[in-house]
This record gives sequence, structure tokens and C-alpha cells, in this order.
Amino acid sequence: MAFEKMDFVCVIAVICLFGVVDGFSFGAPEDFCQYENLQDRNVRMVPGHRGVDPMNTRSPAGYRIVVGPEEANGARKVTLRADPGDYFRGFFIQATRANYALDRGDRPAYGTFRPADTNSQPRRCRSAVGKVGGITHTGNNNKTEISFDWEPPRGCNLGDIQFVATVVRAYSEYWVDVRSDVIAPSGFVGDRGLLCQLYVNPYSKILQRRVLSALRNIQTMQQSRRTGGTAGTLSTQG
Ligand SMILES: *[C@@H]1O[C@H](CO)[C@@H](O)[C@H](O)[C@H]1NC(C)=O
Repeated sequence: MAFEKMDFVCVIAVICLFGVVDGFSFGAPEDFCQYENLQDRNVRMVPGHRGVDPMNTRSPAGYRIVVGPEEANGARKVTLRADPGDYFRGFFIQATRANYALDRGDRPAYGTFRPADTNSQPRRCRSAVGKVGGITHTGNNNKTEISFDWEPPRGCNLGDIQFVATVVRAYSEYWVDVRSDVIAPSGFVGDRGLLCQLYVNPYSKILQRRVLSALRNIQTMQQSRRTGGTAGTLSTQG
């Protein structure tokens, strides 16, 4: 009973949310890739354009994501570009596991996006484990090209990655799953540390518990050092 009621409230909340954000003239909303409940995740990155399906099956997307070489700090310049004569107004981009289906419920969002100018703005994603995870437009003017920077988590082997975009040309014309070439691993490619395993697999309950437990241990050690050993003893009793 309680569950049914909760599900009902969630459904209403989602409808209300999408109702309010029709049009997205100021970019994908703050909560585009945040969510209260796992089942509300917008894994397919579909904008809240009510009653409008993506154009994918009707015509190929006239857009490309071009990824620059790795820079000294590990960052890369990423450009979303319309084919000659085409344009776009809105977009939302993530970095994710290469060749991984968009609607896989455990799909991660990697790294942190930094706007290169005032035409784009970052969006936090819960699937990015403390990183920014997404970037979107700031206005609905016609655009032919837009660039920004992307930085992977430091010292982390992500494996093959791919940038994936939702691109909006008009309210009734948008494409999902526009992908860059596969980017082969670069920088650090050794064994994955615990936190890096969580970046790659953000929805693993086992990893979440292991990371929390490791953080608690660190905290206990720090407290123990401060108080001369008592905190460590106390925590093993709890
Ligand atoms: C954007 O481009 C389309 C197609 O060329 C055009 O109809 C529209 O007026 C343009 N909008 C703006 C704001 O320039």
C-alpha cells in the first residue's frame, strides 16, 4: 500500500517536472541527470518535449562530436559540430563507457566538463560519482559548433570511452545517442583503485558499501590519531 502511494507521487513529480521545463531555452534543467529514485533516471537523455519522439528512426543526425588529443593534465577538448548547412539549438553531452547501450541502467557518466565560454554550462550527474558528468547549452540561439573541455578522474583507468549527445534542433526535432569515435584508454592504465572501480560502476551496491566502509575507516583513523586511540576502539564496538 505504502509503496503504491509512493510510486504514484513519483509519477506525478516527473510529469510536473517535465511540464515545467518544456522547451529548455536555458539548457537542460539542473536535475536532468539527478534523481530521487533510481527508476526515475533519465538514462536515455531524452528531453522533456511532451509527445515528441526522437528523430533517430526518421533521419540520421547531422551532427558530429569531435574529441581532441589528450593534453598534459589529461583533459581533452570536445566539439559538437553541425554538418554544413545544419544547426542545433540545444544539447546535452556525457562521457560514458564505449559501445554501451544508452538505456543500460548501470551506465556511468565519466569525468568533469568545463565550459570554454558562456555558451555552455555544466550539469551535475549522480552517475558521475562526485564529478560533473554533463554539459548543456545556455541559450536557444542557432549554433553550428560548440566546444568545451572534459577532464577524466585523476589516476583512474576508465577503459575505452565515448562521448554521447542529445541534440535539439527544434522542439519537435531532436536526436538522441549521437556518439563520438571510441577513445582508447590513455594516461593511467594500471589496476583500478577502489574509487575508480566505483567511477566505472557507479550503481554497484557492493562497491558503494566498500567505498563507504573505506571512508569510515579513514575517518576513524583520523579521529583516533586526534584523540589518542579511543575513537578506533569505540567504532569497533558499534
Ligand atoms: C535558425 O535557423 C532556422 C533555419 O535556417 C531559421 O528558420 C530560424 O529563423 C533561425 N533562428 C534564429 C533565431 O536565427
